[in-house]
Amino acid sequence: APDGLAATPPMGWSSWNKFAERIDDRTIRAIADAMVSSGLRDAGYRYVNIDDGWQGERGADGELRPNAKFPDMRALADYVHARGLKLGLYSSPGLKTCAGYTGSYGHVAQDARTFARWGVDYLKYDLCSGEWQYDDADRVRRSYYEMGAALKATGRAIVYSLCEYGRFEVASWGRAVGGHLWRTTGDITDDYASMSEIGFVRNPRFAPAGPGGWNDPDMLEIGNGGMSDDEYRTHLTLWAMSAAPLMMGHDVRTTSPAALALLSHRAVIAIDQDAAGVQGKAVRVAGAQEVWAKRLADGAVAIALFNRGDRPVEMRVTAADAGFARFSALRDLWRDADLPPAGTTFTVPAHGTVLLRAAGERA
Ligand code: DGJ
Repeated sequence: APDGLAATPPMGWSSWNKFAERIDDRTIRAIADAMVSSGLRDAGYRYVNIDDGWQGERGADGELRPNAKFPDMRALADYVHARGLKLGLYSSPGLKTCAGYTGSYGHVAQDARTFARWGVDYLKYDLCSGEWQYDDADRVRRSYYEMGAALKATGRAIVYSLCEYGRFEVASWGRAVGGHLWRTTGDITDDYASMSEIGFVRNPRFAPAGPGGWNDPDMLEIGNGGMSDDEYRTHLTLWAMSAAPLMMGHDVRTTSPAALALLSHRAVIAIDQDAAGVQGKAVRVAGAQEVWAKRLADGAVAIALFNRGDRPVEMRVTAADAGFARFSALRDLWRDADLPPAGTTFTVPAHGTVLLRAAGERA
């Protein structure tokens, strides 16, 4: 959307992957505190997004109320804002949300105004409840447009996240309905098979997105325990190379040192957040080995060496991978080490990754 929002992929945290419906005001406040004390806010994670499960019933005036676990949404927004963070909420175009809570059907403009009054900065709109919504492309588009227009009409800067799992070529109309990001797949789960299928196969099928409107391969699982450190490093590298939104999905209050080191790695985050907003892609694939490249705003190129196989392999990077005649500088980002620019061979662990930043002369 041409409103200046989401100039780089949105970064933050969302409650769903770890907590699902087990959320309340106290937990959200503690997560916000932990985002500050862990340094994750200052690494760039700004949105604190409450996913499904906060909604109560409508009052006689039609106004949507939070449920008993969220006594005062405005006060919660104030608390989050006072910590330099932003608040996200969730709704659905149907009568019910995916988890069976009250959806926005029949109250779209009213809900948008309510969210704006509470101080909400981000809305995820999730396609559930209402059979028509699943098989009628026009109605899906129209219902996403209705909420997009309603959010805009509030005058508040609200990032609009479309969650309809990449159906009906959403990338071709997501911006037009006011969206700033749109899911490209079904739900991620905390295992290598799910993460790698989404990151290597499904998300790359979508036309490259960019500033103001991003492909969203779903939230991060780093810190939830279902993958090895090498696999989680691949997860973040793949999302950064894809210019994907980075929404953490773990319990930030108990972030392990290993997860913190991954999630707060400045040079890797900078690849995701690069101002050019290019979505990187595979440039050389040989069996389970994939080399990806992503052009950066300053003319450098991020190069990722992915080993999707179950055994360590030797992988070599060449200047041609970056479209260069030769490298003038090469840096291993995860290791924080400069390398001789001649080109180098790396041992890449099973399901692991090497991420490089390369400068050079164009071929
Ligand atoms: C489906 C979405 O894809 C998930 O991310 C989450 O928002 C759930 N719905 C909530 O019900």
